Amino acid sequence: MKICMICSELSPIAKTGGLGDAVAGLARFLADQGVDLRIFMPFYSAARVDRQAVMPVEFLQGLRTELAGRAVEYDVYTTALPGTSQPIHLIHCPKLYARRGIYDDRGDEHLRFALLARGAIESCQRMGFGPDVFHLNDWHTALVPIYLRSLYGWDKLFAGSRTLLTIHNLAFQGVFPAREVAALGLGPVRSLLHQDDLARGRVSFMTSGILHADHLSTVSPTYAREILTPDHGFGLDPLLRARADHLAGIVNGVDYGEWDPASDRLIARPYSASELGGKEVNKKALLEEVGLPYETGVPVLGVVSRLTAQKGFDLLFGTIPELLSRRKARIVILGNGEARFEEFFLRLQSVFPGRAHFHRGFDNPLAHRIQAGSDMFLMPSRYEPCGLTQLYSLRYGTAPIVRRTGGLADTVELYDSATGSGTGFVFDHFEPDALRWALDYALDSYTDQTRWLGLMRNAMAQDFSWERQGRHYLDLYRRL
Ligand code: ADP
Ligand code: GLC
Repeated sequence: MKICMICSELSPIAKTGGLGDAVAGLARFLADQGVDLRIFMPFYSAARVDRQAVMPVEFLQGLRTELAGRAVEYDVYTTALPGTSQPIHLIHCPKLYARRGIYDDRGDEHLRFALLARGAIESCQRMGFGPDVFHLNDWHTALVPIYLRSLYGWDKLFAGSRTLLTIHNLAFQGVFPAREVAALGLGPVRSLLHQDDLARGRVSFMTSGILHADHLSTVSPTYAREILTPDHGFGLDPLLRARADHLAGIVNGVDYGEWDPASDRLIARPYSASELGGKEVNKKALLEEVGLPYETGVPVLGVVSRLTAQKGFDLLFGTIPELLSRRKARIVILGNGEARFEEFFLRLQSVFPGRAHFHRGFDNPLAHRIQAGSDMFLMPSRYEPCGLTQLYSLRYGTAPIVRRTGGLADTVELYDSATGSGTGFVFDHFEPDALRWALDYALDSYTDQTRWLGLMRNAMAQDFSWERQGRHYLDLYRRL
């Protein structure tokens, strides 16, 4: 099987959230299965790669493609997917990718990601590689199908190729002014673009992908259903409904090579379901690291997240301060993002010294230690396509407290204190009272330590490995 995977993030090389983890995990799985896999991503200046281990691909140097009426020069480099011999192709174009971060606000994101699409397709041409499936991820790669139908439509190499667009987050659509259509090289095929978009003076990468990809998928069955509704469709639900027969929902896998407390080298003490003593050691170490006092029997809530509206932290405004005054608990938060959330967590920490700690920033080792050192993991998302952090917390025996939406609904099962079944605490309505109920239920359950150990074991026994989840992608590729 020949697969061409195109992405804007792949961890640990470039990651701002779960997209990088998901793509890297699937790529590893496919490489293990012996799939002939070609991966393309931009060679950002911000890429975390060992520059010594990056080699130019000899026959892919000094390439040119036309964007915005000018020839843009690029080269292709290669490096191995960390820990494997699977090559990754890096599109090198300092003019577009030498920026401070992965994404940028200089107003040329459309050109940066059009080059990714074109560079990947043109490299396949030069490699004589006609993929069975082009697997695209999010809006950044969503012009590939229309390009294959237009600019590269003449090339018989791709006659048998199918395209699969995986939507990791529908909120990000890649929308630009309609005058950029020509810059993208789509002037001659304006009629293939979504006419309503053009009428409104814009062009959208995501819309084009939804219209032209042979198949669509998203990262959980529940989110696949939700995006067909006006509530979660971000304006694209009518288009998605029209393509509902070609839309699959596949829950992401977890790279347990990186996220498993039994082998995690970033945490204070390894532990597993049969050796749970290490959990408390990690809890003490975490509290010490962040300067909160440890007390036996006092639970720790953890948060690791982008601080955006998606993640639902506005529900904490009316619940967490009250909870910390009313009950014994600690909370450790790692994240950055919107000012209103950062300010709230800063205030929380100053109003509740010794009980709340906020680390503003992006810190992967600390993320691991919060997973290992917390008793509960808080994720009250407004919407959540899949969510990986709750999958990590399940494996770390850290009971997720989540809202029943998207992938959270598909992966966390409400704990039943009567029967001892379930893996976490799930509330339905996006309202403070609902979250308050879940928090109280979790804290009450925690007081019965024997039962709590049972809950931890239920959570740790869940298997969201790529060995399982990746098979669904293989099946889908085969069907295509
Ligand atoms: P999303 O992709 O919507 O951000 P996911 O749950 O799918 O949510 O994935 C988030 C990923 O990003 C996880 O690997 C999580 O550990 C990581 N992450 C998020 N915020 C931070 C942070 N501030 N520091 C370190 N890692 C973070
Ligand atoms: C997006 C979603 C998240 C998902 C991740 C990987 O960032 O917000 O829910 O887990 O992509 O698919």
